[in-house]
Amino acid sequence: MFNIAIDGPAGAGKSTIAKNVAKELSFIYVDTGAMYRAMALYLHRNGISADDPEKIAAGCGGADISIEYRDGEQVVLLAGENVNAWLRTEEVSAMASKSSAVPRVRERLLQLQQELAATQNVVMDGRDIGTVVLPDAQVKIYLTASVEVRAKRRYLEQKAKGEKVDLKEIEAEIAERDHRDMTREVAPLKLADDAVLVDSSDMTIDEVAQRILAIVKEKMALEK
Ligand code: DC
Repeated sequence: MFNIAIDGPAGAGKSTIAKNVAKELSFIYVDTGAMYRAMALYLHRNGISADDPEKIAAGCGGADISIEYRDGEQVVLLAGENVNAWLRTEEVSAMASKSSAVPRVRERLLQLQQELAATQNVVMDGRDIGTVVLPDAQVKIYLTASVEVRAKRRYLEQKAKGEKVDLKEIEAEIAERDHRDMTREVAPLKLADDAVLVDSSDMTIDEVAQRILAIVKEKMALEK
């Protein structure tokens, strides 16, 4: 199997890029953040507090999470129910950010992620894909952008949706999330030794996708 790992902080454009690259190569796109969000939804539905890591560790074993592909889109199933529509709420984002730091939660999802990559060619995005989940991935990309640029992108996205937003507030939230993702004890976000760093601050989506595709094609040619 050929595996491509894309890691990086929130708002760097990982999912858009990973989707484009997967489509171009006819690979499966695996959004691991959505799995952490589905786990968070499960915990939230079971009345578990985001600030209670012991209850999270004890409760996460009951979550029945699986992944399916429908019309090329990843669908996350919680006990058979398609929960995609519930994964992007404020409560779920806040819970996911905290519950993903609990080792038991990570152990459960690691297996599912590794199984997917062992049976299919994947582009997988997350925080620890190149470092922990797929240490032998043929291509590892660390996609980042400055806090200012990432905040501006999110600001424009939310503004376009008609939401009332404050740029400085978004910048502060992103900086706080970066700090949490990079300093947690288990599987923190960090650059793998053999990852290629791509800074998208001054690049368009298409330029980033082309850059990554060039890296992939070079690697594929070497493997032949
Ligand atoms: O990428 P995202 O915003 O959908 O991720 C949701 C949360 O899950 C975020 O707080 C980081 C965490 N996460 C993680 O810890 N490891 C991953 N491989 C992917 C996401």
